[in-house]
Amino acid sequence: MTPSDVKATLSFSDGSPSMELPIYKGTIGPDVIDIRKLYGQTGKFTYDPGFLSTASCNSSITYIDGDKGELLYRGYPIEQLAVNCDYLETCYLLLNGELPNATQKADFQASVTNHTMVNEQMQFFLRGFRRDAHPMAVMTGLVGALSAFYHDSTDINNPEHREIAAIRLIAKMPTLVAMAYKYTVGQPYIYPKNDLSYAGNFLRMMFATPCEEYKVSPVIERALDRIFILHADHEQNASTSTVRLCGSSGTNPFAAIAAGVACLWGPAHGGANEACLNMLEDIQAMGGVAKVGEFMNQVKDKNSGVRLMGFGHRVYKNYDPRAKLMQETCKEVLQELGLENDPLFKLAMALEKIALEDDYFVARKLYPNVDFYSGIVQRAIGIPVPLFTAIFALARTVGWIAQLNEMIADPEYKIGRPRQLFVGSAKRDVKPLAQR
Ligand code: ACO
Repeated sequence: MTPSDVKATLSFSDGSPSMELPIYKGTIGPDVIDIRKLYGQTGKFTYDPGFLSTASCNSSITYIDGDKGELLYRGYPIEQLAVNCDYLETCYLLLNGELPNATQKADFQASVTNHTMVNEQMQFFLRGFRRDAHPMAVMTGLVGALSAFYHDSTDINNPEHREIAAIRLIAKMPTLVAMAYKYTVGQPYIYPKNDLSYAGNFLRMMFATPCEEYKVSPVIERALDRIFILHADHEQNASTSTVRLCGSSGTNPFAAIAAGVACLWGPAHGGANEACLNMLEDIQAMGGVAKVGEFMNQVKDKNSGVRLMGFGHRVYKNYDPRAKLMQETCKEVLQELGLENDPLFKLAMALEKIALEDDYFVARKLYPNVDFYSGIVQRAIGIPVPLFTAIFALARTVGWIAQLNEMIADPEYKIGRPRQLFVGSAKRDVKPLAQR
């Protein structure tokens, strides 16, 4: 953190002494005002529900310029990474700060590949779930359960242990997601196969059966790999902040990642791609493109409670750069599968066109986010809708663990403990039951 020459002064209208607050500059992005001594010196907290103006940490992993619609992993634009690198190179970059050279890439790939199997006991744990349980409920449980297998061997203060936990998580997430899916449909689990790519292996574990091999299509493999890259990290979003907060107590890293999975499930976050596809299917059932106008009127009516899912973002006030890449991938996949006339894709395009021209959306700077098209791609690949958020969790695991490891290695790290503005009853006495 570079101190700025500029200082902020906080003054009070009641004559209390004013306070000078240091300001720090990042490499790019807004400066931050350091309020750490505020409470000690003034006895006051800041109030910022939803962290609209609060930087909770310093980080060198991911940078977003929401106004420009820019996303950088370790300084590299997402558009360049999506075209020039694969997901495992992206993972290496997020974890280590630099893109791997050929040897580093091969070593990293081998290391991930060698950790893709999960303990056989996980199958029995999975059996405890109802077959119709939501995959995110299952994933929260499975990822949390990994902590039981690696607790004694994981010292969070040991950098090597943190690194191996990262590899294990990245390697095992596809296996767990595929197992959760196979359990739902009542098919035998398919073990990982080491000569396949990360995405190819996942596709096979999802769609092969013991009696029929799955032939991995390079277009689908690349599309899935791109979905993984685009979802790999997104700085201090709700689930990442959850992982950091959970991990700040020094808990087992697998347990902290399970907390991230739980947070991601919500429809305002990772659950949006599932919600978006369900919305498209509902409009299609109502009459499709012809009903878009009617649906948009509901969205604009504040009393309806209807939102255009896949639109809007806390940080992006411009087109989400991931949405553009996802739209491209969507076209490629539909073409590969002979689904160019897919009615949901047409519907999505019609909704997007209207929304981008409509005053309601323009005035509020609401643009498509990554989830607007990712659901259509996943559905075309054959991934069932309730599994979409689990795929997101799989891809985001590297971001979570990179951010968690960054936090623990940071000498300024402390247990996270927000304060509050208390508005409940002041101190009072308990009355005996008869007098209440
Ligand atoms: N449809 C209709 N109106 C919307 C939408 C939407 N999708 N998103 C925001 N608005 C409106 C709000 O009603 C509000 O209007 P107002 O100023 O007249 O009251 C204004 O735009 C600002 O919205 P907020 O909810 O205050 O914005 P916030 O930053 O808190 O929310 C969020 C961002 C949660 C993503 C929101 O845009 C949303 O619910 N979108 C739909 C869900 C979605 O797609 N989520 C995915 C996020 S990306 C991800 O997690 C990968």
